[in-house]
Amino acid sequence: METLKIAVIPGDGIGPEVIDEGIKVLEKAAKLSGRIQFEFTHFPWGCEYYLEHGRMMDEDGIDQLRKFDAIYLGAVGYPGVPDHISLWDLLLRIRKEFDQYVNIRPIQLLNGAPCPLIDGSKEKIDMLFIRENSEGEYSGAGDWLFKGKPEEVVLQTGVFSRKGTERIIRYAFETAKEAGKSVTSISKANALNYSMVFWDEVFEKVSKEYPEIETHSYLVDAAAMHMITDPERFEVVVTSNLFGDILTDVGAALAGGIGLAAGANINPEREYPSMFEPVHGSAPDIAGKGIANPLATVWSASQMFDFFGYSDIGEKLLQAIERLLEENEVLTPDLGGTASTSEVGDRITEILNDLF
Ligand code: NAD
Ligand code: IPM
Ligand code: MN
Repeated sequence: METLKIAVIPGDGIGPEVIDEGIKVLEKAAKLSGRIQFEFTHFPWGCEYYLEHGRMMDEDGIDQLRKFDAIYLGAVGYPGVPDHISLWDLLLRIRKEFDQYVNIRPIQLLNGAPCPLIDGSKEKIDMLFIRENSEGEYSGAGDWLFKGKPEEVVLQTGVFSRKGTERIIRYAFETAKEAGKSVTSISKANALNYSMVFWDEVFEKVSKEYPEIETHSYLVDAAAMHMITDPERFEVVVTSNLFGDILTDVGAALAGGIGLAAGANINPEREYPSMFEPVHGSAPDIAGKGIANPLATVWSASQMFDFFGYSDIGEKLLQAIERLLEENEVLTPDLGGTASTSEVGDRITEILNDLF
C-alpha cells in the first residue's frame, strides 16, 4: 500500500474548519479504497503565528515542506496582518518556491449546485481553467519611489518569461489533447502592449504544434461577459495569473459559489511538492461559527487523488459531493441549508461508504 506524506497548513479563519473536514474525507476514502494511506503533519503557520513570531512560517519552513509528497492548505490572511505580508510570506511563497506554475481550477456545475443563470446546466458549465501560477502580474517586482512626496510613483512589474509563458500554454494544450477539448486563451493585448502581445504570440506559436485542437482567443473583458452569457464556449482555458485569479471567482459564482471552488497548484515535473487548496479565503465574516462550506476543500482532495494517479478515487469524491448536493438535506448556509461544516464532512463520509 502506498503511503503519502501530506503537510497540512490549516492557516487562518475558516481554513482550519474546512481542512478538518477535508482530512476526514481523505482518510475515509483512503481507508475504503484499501490502496493508499496518508500521513499528515500539521504546521501551525498563519497570521496568529505571525503575531507571535513576526513570520508567517518557520525560517526553514520551505525546507521542512520540501520532503512532503504534497501540501494541503486551508486559507491564509486575516485582519491584523497586512494581506501583502501574510500572503507573500506563506501562500504565494510556497507557490513560487516550489515552482507550482500550473493552477488547475475546475469550473464545473454539478447536479444540485445552485447556478445564477436561468438556463445554467451541467452540460453548459464545464470549464477547466489553467491559470499561470508563478509569474506574470504576480512577479512581486516593483518599486515605491519618492514615498509621501508629490512626485510619488509606484511601479508593479509584470514579468512574462518565454519559458513561463510557453510551459503553461503547452500544459493547457496537452490537457486539452488528452480530453479531446478546445483551448481558449484569455489575454488583453489591446491595452497591455508588451506582456499580452507576447502572450498572444506565444499562444499562436504553441497552437501550431497542435493543429488538431480547436482554439479561441478572447480579450479578458469580453471573456468575463461570455462566461456569463455563453459559458458553453469555454472548455480548457489558459490565462495569466491575475486574470485567472479574477475569472475563477466569476466561474465559482457560476458553479455553485465560492464554497465549492477547488484548486490545485501543480509542479508537473514533480521536483517539488504540489499544493491543494480551496479557491476561497479565510472568510473572516463567518470564521469561528462552524458554518463554512467544506466542499471546495473536499473537491481539492479529489484533485489530490487525481494527481497521485488515483483518479477513480478522486471521481468517487466528486460523486459524493454531487450526491450530497442532490439530496439537498445536509448543506451549509451558503447553499441554502442549515448544516454545520462538520455535518457536511460527516455526510460525505457516509455517502462514500455507499460508493465504495
Ligand atoms: P473570502 O473568499 O475569504 O470570502 C469572500 C466571501 O465568500 C465572504 O462573504 C465569505 O464568507 C464567503 N466564503 C468564502 N469561503 C466560504 C466557504 N467555504 N463557505 C461559505 N462562505 C464562504 O475572500 P475575502 O473576504 O476577499 O478575503 C478574506 C481573506 O482571505 C483576505 O485576507 C484574503 O487575502 C484572503 N484570501 C486567501 C486566499 C487563500 O488562502 N487561497 C484566497 C482568497 C482570499
Ligand atoms: C487565490 C487567492 C490568492 C491569489 C491571493 C490570496 C494572493 O485570491 O488563490 O485565488 O490571488 O492567487
Ligand atoms: Mn483568488
